[in-house]
Amino acid sequence: MKKNDKNKLVETLRIKREIIFTFIGIFLIIVSTFIETRMLSFSGVSVTSKIIVYAYINITIILFLLMLFLIIRNIIKLFLDKRRNIPGSKLRSKLVALFVLVSLIPSFFMFAVIIAAGFFANGINKWYVPSIEKIIGYSLRIANYVNNRKNIKNTAKHNTHESLYKINKMAEYIRHFYVKYWQVGFLKNPIETTYFILFSTFTLLILFISIWVGFYLSKKITEPVIDLVKGTEKIASGELDININSESNDEIGMLISSFNNMAKDLKKNKEIIEDANLNLNNINIEIERRRKYMEIILKNIGTGVITIDYSGKIKTINNAAEYMFQVNFKEAVNKNYKDVFSKITFSEIREIIKNLAKNNKEESITKEIKLNINDKLHVYIINVTIMKDEKDDYIGFIIVINDTTDMMKAQRIAAWEEVAKRMAHEIKNPLTPIKLSAQRLKRKFGDKLEQGNKIFNDSIDIIIKEVDDLKGLVDEFSLYARLPKANFNYTDINLLIEESFSFYRNAHKNIKFIENFSKDMPPIYIDKLQIKRAIVNILDNAVYSINMNSKDGKKNYNNFIKAETLFEQMGQIVLIKISDTGSGIEEENITNIFEPYFSTKRGGTGLGLAITKNIITENNGTIYAENIQDGGAEFIIELKLINDKNI
Ligand SMILES: Nc1ncnc2c1ncn2[C@@H]1O[C@H](COP(=O)(O)OP(=O)(O)O)[C@@H](O)[C@H]1O
Ligand SMILES: [Mg+2]
Repeated sequence: MKKNDKNKLVETLRIKREIIFTFIGIFLIIVSTFIETRMLSFSGVSVTSKIIVYAYINITIILFLLMLFLIIRNIIKLFLDKRRNIPGSKLRSKLVALFVLVSLIPSFFMFAVIIAAGFFANGINKWYVPSIEKIIGYSLRIANYVNNRKNIKNTAKHNTHESLYKINKMAEYIRHFYVKYWQVGFLKNPIETTYFILFSTFTLLILFISIWVGFYLSKKITEPVIDLVKGTEKIASGELDININSESNDEIGMLISSFNNMAKDLKKNKEIIEDANLNLNNINIEIERRRKYMEIILKNIGTGVITIDYSGKIKTINNAAEYMFQVNFKEAVNKNYKDVFSKITFSEIREIIKNLAKNNKEESITKEIKLNINDKLHVYIINVTIMKDEKDDYIGFIIVINDTTDMMKAQRIAAWEEVAKRMAHEIKNPLTPIKLSAQRLKRKFGDKLEQGNKIFNDSIDIIIKEVDDLKGLVDEFSLYARLPKANFNYTDINLLIEESFSFYRNAHKNIKFIENFSKDMPPIYIDKLQIKRAIVNILDNAVYSINMNSKDGKKNYNNFIKAETLFEQMGQIVLIKISDTGSGIEEENITNIFEPYFSTKRGGTGLGLAITKNIITENNGTIYAENIQDGGAEFIIELKLINDKNI
């Protein structure tokens, strides 16, 4: 499409140029004819001769100008091409210059010789006096005849008649040539000029031919060379689909055919390379995909994985391992494991790796270690294995860490549940008869003993009280072991807390019970009795903590226990916050207080909060504890308003 447009444009330009040249030609003819009529004013010459002469002169002039134009044009073209650095222009101009030189020297010589020898004069003479001998001979004979007529009068009459006829013929001939001579004489000058122009034109013709031959030859030579140059440029720019046409079977032809072969080979090789590249790319993509997949797996599993290369440098460390060991990926990778695990905490890990590296027999070591990370004791099962490649060469270690803290906790809880069940069964049963027996003894002998009446009564009271305490303990154990089946109902949580508070308010006059309830609290779907039990457990601890704190001497009558309820519209969550002004929880215990049998109290069961947590979990909520800045602890319970699990 584009090429066609370009070709059309070139065509129209050419036509325009030809029209202009034609006009210039016509104009030149008119001008030269006009000049000639002015310069050569001759009369007595026939019109046809004049036209022939003008035509002849004009043609020679036009020929001359044409030659001159062609030469100048070619020279300008050559010059411009050279300036524009068009491929092949240098060689062309050299060849043309050479040809012009070679052809010009002899033509100029010839030109010089022609001028020196007065060629024109002779030529003209020869041209218009072809039978000068004849004319002189005839003149001589006419003169002789006139002479003889004076000397011999009337000698032979018949002879005289014949001679007169001849003389007339001869005179006619001479007259005819005289006229011709007269005519030609006039034409002599313009013809000489024309000859000069003709010669110049011939010289220019030779010049033009030599230039043209130069062009032609250089074109013949440079065209394939230019094609080759263009071809190499194309190859350099990456285009290999080229085939240079060449008909000749000379060296240049051979060069072109080997160039074509080279391009073909290059193309084939490029295709092979591209194919291989594509293959490689696909393989790379696949490898990358697998690597990413592995990475994602490693990132998401809860097991910590660390790899160490043969020189002891950490190569990978996944999220779980980062979290477990509280190290940063960027700080750990490409560093020696000894530097990364330099803390005393990690000495056991260092030992395991060191032992494995030294020991040739073992391939893998598994060990349970306890690490204190972020003030929390963690139980880790660590497995260190020697990594080997497919040739069975040692390439490093792989460390797999499992956090069994929660598992251990769960196991412990299960064990405690079992103990609680047995306790409830084995201990609770004899307690009632013991209590009843003691009461009977008191009734029967309480006031009948002469001596030791007080001691008896006191001892019986202690037995009864201790049995009651034991019963309470066993009750708590059994409650922890077997929570009664939950019974869910829509409940007003504010009212529930209010009920518990009023009970405690009466019992503990030294403590203020503050209620800060949300007014638009929707009813929540919970087991009312269970939740009440959980709140009571929390209140029990709070009261204990406040009273213990007061006993320490820091008596404070501004103690309070505050309950707050909140409804989070966005998350459809109900928040219950119960805070006290007691001693607060020691930071290191804050995650342990919900574990069964964890207690800081003398005689405490450590089951209160464990039961509370079980209840909250059963009701699909969460519970956690925080310390308040001004002193005291706060327990936060989150319950979902829409409890799909329970509905
Ligand atoms: N409000 C509180 N203030 C301070 N410490 C508390 C509070 N509530 C619970 N604790 C701590 O949590 C421990 C566990 O409580 P709990 O499970 O109820 O068992 P117990 O009351 O038998 O000790 C308590 O021993 C105490 O150290
Ligand atoms: Mg308690």
